[in-house]
Amino acid sequence: MSEEPIIQLPDTSSWGTPDWGIKVMPKDSKGIVMRDCLIGRAGEVPDVAPKNTGVAQRGSVVDPNTPDFGFPIRDKNLVWADNMADLYEQAKAGQWDATTDIPWDDLPELPDDLEQAVCQIMTFLIQNEYLAMYLPAKFMHQIDPQFTEVVLFLATQVMDEARHAEVFTKRALANGGGLQYVSAAEEWSVRSLLSQDDYSNGSFLMHVLGEGTFMELLMFLEDISPDPVTAKTFKLARQDEGRHVGYGISHFSYHIEQDPSIKDQLLAAAEERTMFLQQASGSSPFVLKAMMTLAGGGSHPEQLAKGRDRVRELYEEMHKKRVRGLVSIGFERKTAERISELHGSGVQNFM
Ligand SMILES: [Fe+2]
Ligand SMILES: [Fe+2]
Repeated sequence: MSEEPIIQLPDTSSWGTPDWGIKVMPKDSKGIVMRDCLIGRAGEVPDVAPKNTGVAQRGSVVDPNTPDFGFPIRDKNLVWADNMADLYEQAKAGQWDATTDIPWDDLPELPDDLEQAVCQIMTFLIQNEYLAMYLPAKFMHQIDPQFTEVVLFLATQVMDEARHAEVFTKRALANGGGLQYVSAAEEWSVRSLLSQDDYSNGSFLMHVLGEGTFMELLMFLEDISPDPVTAKTFKLARQDEGRHVGYGISHFSYHIEQDPSIKDQLLAAAEERTMFLQQASGSSPFVLKAMMTLAGGGSHPEQLAKGRDRVRELYEEMHKKRVRGLVSIGFERKTAERISELHGSGVQNFM
């Protein structure tokens, strides 16, 4: 008499065979890194995600009757970069704490005009941080988890931007000032990017043009900071932005190499956003005056004039860097200049 099994498993003969015997080893004292997990079935990144792998981790053997989750982004071209696994590891290693990693106790008392300028800049930066936090969050759940590393990386970006909103808020409140003015022009600019529905357009406008320019801005702000504590908030945020831009550059190099026709779509997206902004928004003088004040060392007319000259130089430098970045990912120089000019002339908030 044969015994009944305690639990009956389904017949999996048509599902495929799981891997076995995989043994990823930790590297020296560095532990197990994501790149080493690109192994066996888990390392087979599909060109197009299958419709019946749901939220199973890549490499799992999935019941063919699994429902289609309908993830809209299932083409590797649309999200991938060959260094995704490394970018994710770098993102985790680069985390810091806005509560304890800024020497808040050392903030010096500043003249009112400089403190007001710092607070105005902080108020404006925070708007951009919300944008950079909400936009990847909006797209994350549209990306098929077959592209694990991209989804995990975007999660780190969301955390990074949350920390930036936190640190800039804390700085605005920490030294006798407070949050300052927000213009409708800046809000229109953020809204026009947050409302992008196509991942390629949204990612290009944010990761390449927006955050690339924002990084230059943070470097400039660090340079013109009235004190080292404030400078450190810009410096730590900029290091994180370097990774976000790094993803944009690596991803679009990959995408353009696979499908050069995407370049026309990206140019059109930049044109459309700028045209919209030129109609919708006026100028945004608060931030410009704050930058002129910090760059000139104060708010006397001669200081403001000196500051204005430095801000002009910054705009030129931003343009040159944008063009260089666009050429590096595969745009022809003329198109790169056109896109950079569109961004520089249309966008009030640098992003
Ligand atoms: Fe940020
Ligand atoms: Fe960012």
